[in-house]
Amino acid sequence: MLKGRNLIEPGDFSIQELDEIFRLADTIIAEQGRFIDICKGKLLASLFYEPSTRTRFSFESAMLRLGGQVIGFDNPSNSSVSKGETIGDTIRTVACYADIAVIRHPREGTAKLVSEFSNGMPIINAGDGGHEHPTQTLTDLLTIHYEKKRLSNLKIGVCGDLLFGRTIHSFVKTMNRYPDNQFVFISPKELQMPEHFLNLLPKNAYVETDDLANAISDLDILYMSRVQRERFVNEAEYMRLKDYYILTRKKLSLAKEDMIVMHPLPRVNEIAREVDSDPRAVYFEQARYGMYVRMALIAKLLGVLS
Ligand code: CP
Repeated sequence: MLKGRNLIEPGDFSIQELDEIFRLADTIIAEQGRFIDICKGKLLASLFYEPSTRTRFSFESAMLRLGGQVIGFDNPSNSSVSKGETIGDTIRTVACYADIAVIRHPREGTAKLVSEFSNGMPIINAGDGGHEHPTQTLTDLLTIHYEKKRLSNLKIGVCGDLLFGRTIHSFVKTMNRYPDNQFVFISPKELQMPEHFLNLLPKNAYVETDDLANAISDLDILYMSRVQRERFVNEAEYMRLKDYYILTRKKLSLAKEDMIVMHPLPRVNEIAREVDSDPRAVYFEQARYGMYVRMALIAKLLGVLS
């Protein structure tokens, strides 16, 4: 039963509960007309303390497509935060008005913290610093479900900023819960997966390399990611690493015909625009699946479907 629950990290939901969300997303995709007013009279609070295109717009579109309404901000300086209000007081107040809240914040642990002040209003973590981004993971898994027809027994290359990439942390932890998935972590040594994170995985479930061209040939999925400029303390270090990997058509020619290229977006330079027209590039489809899976998530947490 997902009604009234929070989603702070993907591990909050069992595999069965994740599958329930994907099944509902499938139904929403197939029969959109059935869902146009199931959230009538409900309000989603959209609280973005950090920039976003996909996550914010997909959540807001999801709620509007379900017949609900949206309040919130994409710039906290327009709220009483600018007068010194604590985030706990903000959430307590929002919980007086809204039925469900989505929050993105640059500080790790904020979604968890505010869930203690939400008075039963479900809290969805839309990204907390370099920590977790669970609804991106729902998006990623729904994409794989459609594009690869399975969530297990996959060889998954994860490339780019594995140190700061919250989408990657949530994605790898979750794919590791499905049987027989193998990971190839592709990064410069400065941006490798954190040690404490690797310790969560069986030793035989992953290899690390810095060589994308060499690793690409036997992957089922290549998950590219942006170097997270906003998490660097040293701009010169960012400039040195930002173009370490650029997926070009030439490099993609080394991959299997049925490999898929994913990316949570936004992209900077790490995938050349020439790759966009390759049928293996699914990252804009991925963004679309994000809206459907968030429709399913909102409906489940609000308990508006029997
Ligand atoms: N994937 C993702 O989180 O994108 P936004 O930062 O645009 O929300």
